[in-house]
Amino acid sequence: MSIKFGILTVSTTCSQHPEKDEAGPKLEKEILLEFSKSLVSYKKIVTDDLAAIIHELEFVTTNCVCDVLFTVGGTGFAPSDVTPEATKAVIDKEAPGLTYAMISKSLAVTDMAMLSRSVCGIKNQTVIINFPGSSKAAVECFRFIKSSILHAVALIK
Ligand code: MTE
Repeated sequence: MSIKFGILTVSTTCSQHPEKDEAGPKLEKEILLEFSKSLVSYKKIVTDDLAAIIHELEFVTTNCVCDVLFTVGGTGFAPSDVTPEATKAVIDKEAPGLTYAMISKSLAVTDMAMLSRSVCGIKNQTVIINFPGSSKAAVECFRFIKSSILHAVALIK
C-alpha cells in the first residue's frame, strides 16, 4: 500500500530559520527508508502558536493531503508547548494506544519520555501523531509506532 505522509514541524525558531530544522528532514529520510513506495506529500514548519497549528491541522485533514500526519515538537512542559492542545481541538477520535506505545517504549531509552504530552488521533481520513521535537526523539518514536501504520491507514479508509 502506498501511503501519503505529512510532517508538520512545530517550532518558532525553525519557522524563522528553516535550515535549523533537523528533525523534519531526518524523519522524512526514515519514513522513505521504511515505506519505500510511499511519499511525503506535505512538509511545513509552523510557529508554536495554537491558532497557527490548528489552521495547518485543519487544512491537512480537510483536504485529505495525507493519510498520516506527524507533528514534530511542542509536546513538552514549556508555556509555548501547545501541539497536544491543537491536536485535541482538531481530532474526532483519540488514539491513546499510539501514545501509550510511544511513551512506554521511549521510557526504555530515557526517563525524560514522561515529559512528552503527545496526543494521537483521527480526523476524517488522517491519523495525526505528535512526536517530540528533537531529531533523536522523533526518529525513535517513529520506529516505535511504525509497525502499526499500514493497518491503521487501512482501517480509516
Ligand atoms: N522520547 C524519546 N523517545 N527520546 C527522547 O530523547 N525526549 C524527551 C521526551 N520524549 C525524548 C522523548 C524530552 S527531553 C522532552 S522535554 C519531551 O519529549 C518533550 O519534547 P518536545 O517539547 O520537544 O516535544
